[in-house]
Amino acid sequence: MSDQLIIFDTTLRDGEQSPGASMTREEKLRIARQLERMKVDVIEAGFAASSNGDFEAVKAIAAAVRDSTICSLARANDRDISRAAEALAGAQRARIHTFIATSELHMEKKLRMTREQVLEQATLAVRFGRNLCGDIEFSPEDGYRSDIDFLARVCEAVIKEGAGTINIPDTVGYAIPELYGDFIRRLREKVPNSDKAIWSVHCHNDLGMAVANSLAGVKLGGARQIECTINGLGERAGNCSLEEVVMAVKTRRDYFGLDVGIETSQIVPASKLVSQTTGFVVQPNKAVVGANAFAHASGIHQDGVLKARDTYEIMRAEDVGWAANKIVLGKLSGRNAFKQRLQELGIELDSEAEVNAAFQRFKDLADRKNEIFDEDIIALVMDESVIA
Ligand code: KIV
Ligand code: ZN
Repeated sequence: MSDQLIIFDTTLRDGEQSPGASMTREEKLRIARQLERMKVDVIEAGFAASSNGDFEAVKAIAAAVRDSTICSLARANDRDISRAAEALAGAQRARIHTFIATSELHMEKKLRMTREQVLEQATLAVRFGRNLCGDIEFSPEDGYRSDIDFLARVCEAVIKEGAGTINIPDTVGYAIPELYGDFIRRLREKVPNSDKAIWSVHCHNDLGMAVANSLAGVKLGGARQIECTINGLGERAGNCSLEEVVMAVKTRRDYFGLDVGIETSQIVPASKLVSQTTGFVVQPNKAVVGANAFAHASGIHQDGVLKARDTYEIMRAEDVGWAANKIVLGKLSGRNAFKQRLQELGIELDSEAEVNAAFQRFKDLADRKNEIFDEDIIALVMDESVIA
């Protein structure tokens, strides 16, 4: 089995399904270029058949991006698949991602189709797509809530028709890490030709476990593609967030043993771009890309980090695109952090007694003010009356 983990970004498709996150063609193009800079393997650029606007966006991205595979979603019917192929015609590398639901609930209530009809439609769709595009991905929608034996029959059939990637969505974020990982493993074991395809995970975050479920799908299930979005953007509570899975696999390479081709220094710029474009603010304590992800506020932590960053940092802020980590001065800060900031500001006090007096004034101020800025420190050292 390959040691390479494929990162499939669906910010521009599933991410855009987030209410209020719709993007113009130009905005999508800008984000696609950033994803390419970040060396994302596959960019799902949209759902070409869903609207003329989406068709044009997929087409523009297919023409502009050279280094990532460009993908369009398509329902499992000839019209959608033809439209996707048309939009992708200018791509250096194109993929069509076709899907149909396989859970009893979706088949009966939504599609009003029998198992045999769904099996046939999936097979025909992949056969049709394969004649238009060499790279076909198939997703059984609501796959995780599907009967595993029926699902295995569908997967076997579409692999026979030439689907190169089989993606198992946890469409409604119902999975639990161990159970999802085990489901993928058992499913692969039930599909006789499973080694002819790359297995992929696609997890939603309704119970806050999209990242954990995706990682379990990889570690326990043997999946080698993760579908994710920048900042975890997506329908309802969102999708698995790219920055978190990528940094988990990189930081814990000792556990996962996998390589990821992502240029991680482009993660924070991508996060900011998606946030500015959609207006979706990133929560300050969000892992990796939140403003506080590399900020230290307590005196003990600040002292530790100033002596050796590894004491309280498992990743480097610079490695994911922040300029540096942050020592936030406030009432919990210690003398060491205060002295360090004086030094950074080029302030030299004549004696330790002066440092101690300034530190005391700083502590008094910090009791009254949430965060102390550099301007406060300069004022406090230069002219005590300014801040009194
Ligand atoms: O969540 C889902 O099931 C999807 C599929 C269309 C892949 O987004
Ligand atoms: Zn989805």
